[in-house]
Amino acid sequence: MTAPRLGRSTIAVHGIPEPRRENEPVVSPIMQSATFVNAVGSDREVMYTRYGNNPNQVSLARKYATLEGAEDAVFVASGMGATSLAHLSVLRPGDHLLASRWIYGGTLKLFDEEFERFGITVTYVDPTTPRVWRKSIRKTTRAIFIESPVNPTIRVLDLTPIAAIAKEFGLALLVDSTFASPINFRPLEHGADLVITSATKYLNGHSDVIGGAVAGTRPVIEEVVRLLRLWGQALDPHAAWLIERGMKTLAIRMARHNANGLAVATFLAKHPGVTEVSYPGLERHPDHEIAARTLSGYGGMVGVTLKGGISGAERFLRRLRLFIHAPSLAGVESLVSDPRHTSHKGRSAEQLADAGIAPGFVRLSCGIEDAEDLIADLEQALAR
Ligand SMILES: Cc1ncc(COP(=O)(O)O)c(C=O)c1O
Repeated sequence: MTAPRLGRSTIAVHGIPEPRRENEPVVSPIMQSATFVNAVGSDREVMYTRYGNNPNQVSLARKYATLEGAEDAVFVASGMGATSLAHLSVLRPGDHLLASRWIYGGTLKLFDEEFERFGITVTYVDPTTPRVWRKSIRKTTRAIFIESPVNPTIRVLDLTPIAAIAKEFGLALLVDSTFASPINFRPLEHGADLVITSATKYLNGHSDVIGGAVAGTRPVIEEVVRLLRLWGQALDPHAAWLIERGMKTLAIRMARHNANGLAVATFLAKHPGVTEVSYPGLERHPDHEIAARTLSGYGGMVGVTLKGGISGAERFLRRLRLFIHAPSLAGVESLVSDPRHTSHKGRSAEQLADAGIAPGFVRLSCGIEDAEDLIADLEQALAR
């Protein structure tokens, strides 16, 4: 029987539907067990939660792979775990990685502080200039890593020219699309080989779980699973169950995040207390054309630069009532963060400028509240 073609909202709820048995629970139970009975003498693979083959881990991965349009996927203990294992699955000692300059601060640190011990070198490039990608390729280059939309500046990259270069030189293209979720953007449709996501964010959506996932072709995911078992990165079954529950509402949450992001960005763009708004849904955004062509929604993340620089931003953060000042993003509740104190802590003024973070920049994660209430909160915080 061929699988029916289903919409993403339906997949987010059911995964690939299977025939139901009488009295089977509608909601799959949590298999909170480290291990499973093994038939004596059987040479079938044993079930052990650290192996990533607990039923909660497996059904979650299947659903996520379907949403990304991937052959296979695997969940791990955090977004950083997904990033590290995805890279280790395609890189060997002596290899060279080309990475976008615009990436999450944690990923930047992983590359700068950890990859050297594996003999992996990294070159950062301006992701908007295909010529630079091409020029930076060495004999030892094996992979390209980009993040889109970019944390925290909400730039959007065009994958097509980068994927063409990756294909021409036989490089693996890894894309972190945490800020989009598979509802808004599916990198595999644009030539990526592996998708990385922090499930802590939109997939789970309730700011109560840490998790990550990698999706791609079966052989590469098998390699990620091999590493997951050895490096001990398994996701707890309860966390897997919570993420799967969160994913049931992913599509409707994204519709609301998209609407609230646009409403908030449109309001801020007209406010005299604001010098710059970065939201790909605004026509004046430098990547609006790319975003309109490649995304199915512009998301809930908004970058805003306030008049008054760092002290203006601090006053704004202290005044906000609904937007909670906390790291992380993409939950049902609106959050706000200052990358100078979170993802880009300890970076020099030059490095911040390089990452596109101006003094006075803060990152808003618009939740699913009423847009009017979010705007009223921003308005009172911006009042003189
Ligand atoms: C784009 C991006 N990728 C990866 C991560 C890491 O995710 P986690 O905190 O789940 O390890 C983050 C965290 O903020 C992120 O913003």
